[in-house]
Amino acid sequence: MLSINAQRLNDTLQSLGRIGETQGGMQRIAFSPADVEGREFVKSLMTEAGMSVRVDAAGNVIARKVDSEVGLPAIGMGSHTDTVPKGGKYDGALGVLGAIECVQTLKDAGMTTRHPIEVLVYTNEEGTQFRRWLYGSRAMAGLMEDDDLTCVDELGVSIGERLKDIGGDVSRISEAVRTPDEFSAYLELHIEQGPVLHQTGIAIGDVTAITGRIGMNVSVRGFANHAGTTPMGHRRDALMAATHVIQSVNRIATDEEMCRVGTVGMVEVSPNAENVIPGRVDISVEFRDETTERIRQAADRFREICQRLCQHWDVTIDIEEIGLASPAPMHDEIRAFIRDSARKLGFSLSSLPSGAGHDAQSMAEITRAGMIFVPSVNGISHSPHEYTSPEDCTNGVNVLLQTLLTLDSNLD
Ligand code: GLV
Ligand code: MN
Ligand code: MN
Repeated sequence: MLSINAQRLNDTLQSLGRIGETQGGMQRIAFSPADVEGREFVKSLMTEAGMSVRVDAAGNVIARKVDSEVGLPAIGMGSHTDTVPKGGKYDGALGVLGAIECVQTLKDAGMTTRHPIEVLVYTNEEGTQFRRWLYGSRAMAGLMEDDDLTCVDELGVSIGERLKDIGGDVSRISEAVRTPDEFSAYLELHIEQGPVLHQTGIAIGDVTAITGRIGMNVSVRGFANHAGTTPMGHRRDALMAATHVIQSVNRIATDEEMCRVGTVGMVEVSPNAENVIPGRVDISVEFRDETTERIRQAADRFREICQRLCQHWDVTIDIEEIGLASPAPMHDEIRAFIRDSARKLGFSLSSLPSGAGHDAQSMAEITRAGMIFVPSVNGISHSPHEYTSPEDCTNGVNVLLQTLLTLDSNLD
């Protein structure tokens, strides 16, 4: 059976992992110089693998290899190369480099495919920049929202400017949309980012569904005043109210079990001075679950709690929804091909949902999508301690290759 070159795969993983590497972890935030360097590195590997490379209006890197004139739609594979701040070396990178390794392996073996193959590297998957996540894949799936076209970063630079830096063009973003007739299927290999496979000692995960998520910007406004002279009973302390807002996010997911997880990941206190009662606190809130109903239920409950906190603390709380990504089931037929490929290769296998978001959930809107997971040591991710062994990375890419070949033979 055809196998990938494990040494080459793990070398390219380490090479990409040096781009943007800092003492505190990976720092390849979308649109940053390190992200641009990472994208250029990946483009050079794609060219070496014999693919033609282009960048679409959303800044997605798209490499294509066409061997036959049959006119079949493409099989897509891919992921992202941007990272969260202080992130790890494997999140996204494995899916991109694994897909390129599959194409390079086919080239080395002189093998051709019936379907064109596309390797896709999506812009700003993490959404760290502009807080607009899955940016490139949503553009590809026609899921752009108004704010996606007008957002401005903390330095006042517009998305249009940032896209220009990576070869995109916001005024033509609708040209990035791909239609169902362009793809036969889509595969994404990714590290699990959770503990299940590592704890159970299972080599390969077949993803059942990708969790949904709602994101919110929450702004708590009180009144900034003197910390020494304002009596405790006369304060409108935005931070005190915000601590209860934050606790409620956790409680909704734990004590109240309204959704699977709830997180506050960002807090900004203003004016953030030792001797001033905080007048304003901005926080990010997200809830995730495998059903849209439960995500909505958690968000409704959160609004209700905030209303009560406004009265109690004499503050105002504005809640702005910044996007609801629906849960995305993976396609049964593609899942069956993934499981067959893993079994054929002799790997232990388990089916599990994805708690993280992925570009595959956008691609599932336009084609049959499937995801392959490999173990994350101790379930750590979005952290410099994120680690997947070279052997597990290799196993995952071999399953990706086998699944690609099986899809190529079986799909029309
Ligand atoms: C993407 O990595 C996410 O936040 O799930
Ligand atoms: Mn990822
Ligand atoms: Mn991530």
